[in-house]
Amino acid sequence: MKENYMVCNCKQVSYFAILDALHEHENFDNVLAAFESVKEVTHCSTGCGGCHDKVMAVISELLSQ
Ligand code: FES
Repeated sequence: MKENYMVCNCKQVSYFAILDALHEHENFDNVLAAFESVKEVTHCSTGCGGCHDKVMAVISELLSQ
């Protein structure tokens, strides 16, 4: 099992929070759409925006599993 860690410090959004948010998402082949819905659910990447690439990387990783 993968360990949890903070992906977005501004909004305190963890790896598992992104994983949970993705479960509510239907369209698994569109990373950008997935990013938008994860953003909506968790508010990650709505602060400084510095975690954008990290969030995208986590989503791509989770979607490719
Ligand atoms: S670290 Fe995610 S918005 Fe700042």
